[in-house]
Amino acid sequence: MSGSGSNSLWGSRFEGGPSEALAALSRSVHFDWRLAGYDIAGSLAHIKALHQAGYLTSPELAALEKHFTELLRRVQSGSFLPKDSDEDVHGALERGLIEIAGAELGGKVRAGRSRNDQIATLIRKYLLDSADAIEVLVLDLVKVLTDRAEENMGIAMPGRTHFQHAQPVLLSHHLLAHAWPLVRDLERLEDWRKRASLSPYGSGALAGSTLGLDPRLVASELGLSGVTQNSMDATASRDVVVEFAFVCSLIGINLSRFAEEIIIWVSAEFDYAKLDDAFSTGSSIMPQKKNPDIAELARGKAGRLIGNLTGLLAMIKGLPLSYNRDLQEDKEPVFDAVDTLTVLLPAFTGMVATLKFNKNRLEMLAPAGFSLATDVAEWLVKQKVPFRDAHEITGKLVSFCEQNDLQLHQVPDADMAAISPKLTPEVREVLTVDGSIRARAGAGGTALPRVLEQIANLRKLLSKKDA
Ligand code: ARG
Repeated sequence: MSGSGSNSLWGSRFEGGPSEALAALSRSVHFDWRLAGYDIAGSLAHIKALHQAGYLTSPELAALEKHFTELLRRVQSGSFLPKDSDEDVHGALERGLIEIAGAELGGKVRAGRSRNDQIATLIRKYLLDSADAIEVLVLDLVKVLTDRAEENMGIAMPGRTHFQHAQPVLLSHHLLAHAWPLVRDLERLEDWRKRASLSPYGSGALAGSTLGLDPRLVASELGLSGVTQNSMDATASRDVVVEFAFVCSLIGINLSRFAEEIIIWVSAEFDYAKLDDAFSTGSSIMPQKKNPDIAELARGKAGRLIGNLTGLLAMIKGLPLSYNRDLQEDKEPVFDAVDTLTVLLPAFTGMVATLKFNKNRLEMLAPAGFSLATDVAEWLVKQKVPFRDAHEITGKLVSFCEQNDLQLHQVPDADMAAISPKLTPEVREVLTVDGSIRARAGAGGTALPRVLEQIANLRKLLSKKDA
């Protein structure tokens, strides 16, 4: 039997202790121990509220502050560790406090709070700190994408839709197209903070506390911006956790989409880019291999992050108000999401920072697949040809090229004129990759000035975050 001894938080109304099987199922301390520092911070804030409301004398408060500081030191140094008989982080820390403070004083701290409002507060604090760390890592990647875009300015490449050659674009434009979704993920985290930064402390088990403790005091001690509005909602909801997991999944998915392209780009058939040795792996049997493992792991880990999110969503979908033990299952998925991004992002950023682009190959392929056909059609429109006709004329030109194995610019003047008298030799002006890219100067387009604007805007964002 375990957990029903002196360290149990709830054993007194039970005749026997819990079965081994229940204790094993119920135990969360092996994963929620990572919240120990937050639990102690919550306790330090809580004892101030107890003191303010008259439940602790000033000497008791001072003594408890000292004891909690010592407990934190023991936790951080590893000299205090959870035992098998501890159910969760809260129980283990109460045991640790009583070891230091004695049962009389240590036993006063639990007044006016429940593990339900405690855990709902701790997970928010943990996720807010984790969001800070993830934000730094995502910013590093956005910066690297911006640097790479700047450094590779002016290189044309095939732009695709349906994975077929569509129109030429600048490599920088393509790279920045992977930066903006990450910027939006950062904005999502920023917005999420408003909802996450509220303290459920004082909600008690579900209905609030009778002791008249000031929840605002606890919130401000914990550096949270306010308090939750409804004690039942505060203890029973995990949408803040779900939303965090969603943003983590989206970051993973955004990496995964780029990863898929990198895997294709470094293949022999594409040969758009080469991976740096330090960010690629070999094969144990095939000596020639250089594998894009980081990109593949990014793709795989996106699946894992999505799994964490869907697990959380499924866990809360049928829960009646208010706290249910199911909610203990909220932690491992988000811990895993944080750990996954923490290990993935630096490797991914390093891979992108060191990727070597094959300029000649990219530029050679930029006009392939008749990717300048739209330019011909739009040139005809400028000659006052209705777009419907322009599309048809250009279609005929492409088909002529296919039949005669020619590129658009290789069609002789006479053959052009035979397809349509509107196709005068002046059309050749737009039959260059450079001209095509230069012409796409509308908002958000791939023309150089527009791409430089994007870089300037990203630099502004990055410097604001630095400040
Ligand atoms: N380990 C629990 C959790 O993570 C703490 C809250 C326990 N509350 C309870 N009523 N048993 O949800």
